[in-house]
Amino acid sequence: MLEKEKFYITTPIYYPSDKLHIGHSYCTVATDAMARYKRARGYDVMFLTGTDEHGQKIERIAEEKGVSPKEYVDEIVASVKELWKLMNISYDRYIRTTDDYHVKAVQKIFKTLYEKGEIYKSEYEGLYCTPCESFFTEKDLVDGKCPDCGRPVEKVKEESYFFRLSKYGDRIIKLLEEHPEFLEPASRRNEMINNFLKPGLTDLCVSRTSFKWGVPVDFDEGHIVYVWVDALSNYITALGYGSDDDSDFKKYWPADVHVVGKEIVRFHTIIWPAILMALDLPLPKKVFGHGWLIIDGGKMSKSKGNVVDPVILCEKYGVDAIRYFLLREIAFGQDGNFTNEALITRINSDLANDFGNLLSRTVGMIEKYFGGKLPAEQAENPLNEEIKAFAAKTVEKTEGYYDEMLFSDALCEIWSFIRRLNKYIDETAPWVLAKDESKKAELAGIMYVLAEGLRIISVLIEPCMPNTPALCFEQLGIEDASLKVWDSTHSFGLLPKEVSVKKGPAVFPRIDVKKELESIEKEAEKKAKAEEKAAKKAEKKEKKAESKAEEPKKIVIDDFAKVSMKVGVILECKKVEKSDKLLVSQVKIGDEVRQIVSGVAKWYTPEEMAGRKVIVVTNLKAVKLRGVLSQGMLLAASKGDKLELVSVSDDIPDGADIS
Ligand code: ME8
Ligand code: MG
Repeated sequence: MLEKEKFYITTPIYYPSDKLHIGHSYCTVATDAMARYKRARGYDVMFLTGTDEHGQKIERIAEEKGVSPKEYVDEIVASVKELWKLMNISYDRYIRTTDDYHVKAVQKIFKTLYEKGEIYKSEYEGLYCTPCESFFTEKDLVDGKCPDCGRPVEKVKEESYFFRLSKYGDRIIKLLEEHPEFLEPASRRNEMINNFLKPGLTDLCVSRTSFKWGVPVDFDEGHIVYVWVDALSNYITALGYGSDDDSDFKKYWPADVHVVGKEIVRFHTIIWPAILMALDLPLPKKVFGHGWLIIDGGKMSKSKGNVVDPVILCEKYGVDAIRYFLLREIAFGQDGNFTNEALITRINSDLANDFGNLLSRTVGMIEKYFGGKLPAEQAENPLNEEIKAFAAKTVEKTEGYYDEMLFSDALCEIWSFIRRLNKYIDETAPWVLAKDESKKAELAGIMYVLAEGLRIISVLIEPCMPNTPALCFEQLGIEDASLKVWDSTHSFGLLPKEVSVKKGPAVFPRIDVKKELESIEKEAEKKAKAEEKAAKKAEKKEKKAESKAEEPKKIVIDDFAKVSMKVGVILECKKVEKSDKLLVSQVKIGDEVRQIVSGVAKWYTPEEMAGRKVIVVTNLKAVKLRGVLSQGMLLAASKGDKLELVSVSDDIPDGADIS
């Protein structure tokens, strides 16, 4: 048996962020479509995805949440995996950069580079964007802020290791110029060459000492491997590079394509090739830099009256509708807008109208005109040849676009065939033929062409819409597995003549645009209100906790009444022997005289005390201080190192009650 050709494809590994929005799914859905296509074409596919779990950003978020970084990422990773399951992502391997084997392999890579002299120790002084985990120089900044995300950068200075990136500039320019297929689309190539490579590369700081959450440099305590070196290495460590078993590495490396967002093309086409060159390893064959799904005008901005939560979207409209929208709406490589309106419009026009109608009309007519089963005796309509040629051209063009990862074009091609078939129904007018018994064979032939066309369409859409083909096959009564494989699309007419159908529910129900948008708006409002309420409640709680911490415990008036306070006058005062803090006073309170010791020697001399009006707590239990009896306490106000005895004016005589 011929050995299958391998195809190794990767997504970026995601930062475990709290809230995955529909933009995050984009890259993974596109990669999945390619992986599925290649599998369908008979390749031995290795599809890798995962999570990029180290770095200061994660450390900080976890700290804010009061959990350990590992606890924090574990929870998110579980939800990421749930999402990929929901979205039918057929990854073969999932790497977490916190996985033990990866950590060990990264340490090995770092050490190898150090021993080869590719990494050296020096001092770093520069600007760092924590959200992007990227270093910048002054000239990289835009308005003093991070050129990638627009947030403020931080000055950092620390002893660091450096990778000799500068030495690879010429080789990388040559790579980009001599192998245009290495980076696509082409526009990104010029950006790399003109903006980064031509001005000259500087050595790259590849270790940090200011935080702990990362892969430790195993030969120099306190140093953590720069997250991008850690993260990029995932593409080879996931295959066992640097471990005892590197058979997958030998089988699948180099990668056939790294699919990445445009903002991280620089890491994948400059830094990553340079690291691989330094390790004497083969380079990936291609990096594809896709564009962004723009949500409310910004790549990452939060929803305002827009549902961007992929889980909600998939539950509302179905996974395949979402996948179709992502792959169809945005030309792969360019930016595209996400709005609920655009999504619903696509669902209604392309899915419910064009595709859904073609299927339900076909099945419905076979039921109506032939009781659900076509007779073997069929005659050709003059248009059939054209339809067959159209199908063949569609398959050929679709393959070409899929090969280039131009999913939008591929779907566009498939949909023009769908529209052609709908038009074919109108042109042949089966409802007219049905009235004429002599046209029965021709009518059956037309129905057959429609069913066979739908079979081919179902196979062609599978990479993008993995759930839908099974629904169509069921309605068309197709069970034979050989009619569902890719190669079967190359011949029109494989479907046995006696097609037997079973009407099912609409594959893509129509959505009432106005109602749906209104309900989304309402939901968003409700959500915003609930969030506002929750925020207010949290603020209140926080304030309460704050005041609790600052103020003494609240008491009721009865508690206060338990304290007896009276005005007194100091008759005489002297120092307590062997104490430089304490004074002992004889205090006249109405009819009685009490002896009271107080710690005020730092602020008052015995002379200053004599004659002074004071407030005395009179029902305190008597105590001995430095062996001297004290029958009460004088009230004083103090702040910092200032203190003053509390007093009343001469108008109030001693013995007066304080209440
Ligand atoms: O960059 N539209 O992770 P990440 C399209 N950990 N794509 C989007 C998007 C949007 N609105 N928002 C995010 C990282 N993405 C690194 C990768 S690889 C060794 C390390 C894409 O979670 C983004 O472009 O910030 C990127 O390709 C992917 O999601 C992961 O982004
Ligand atoms: Mg990012």
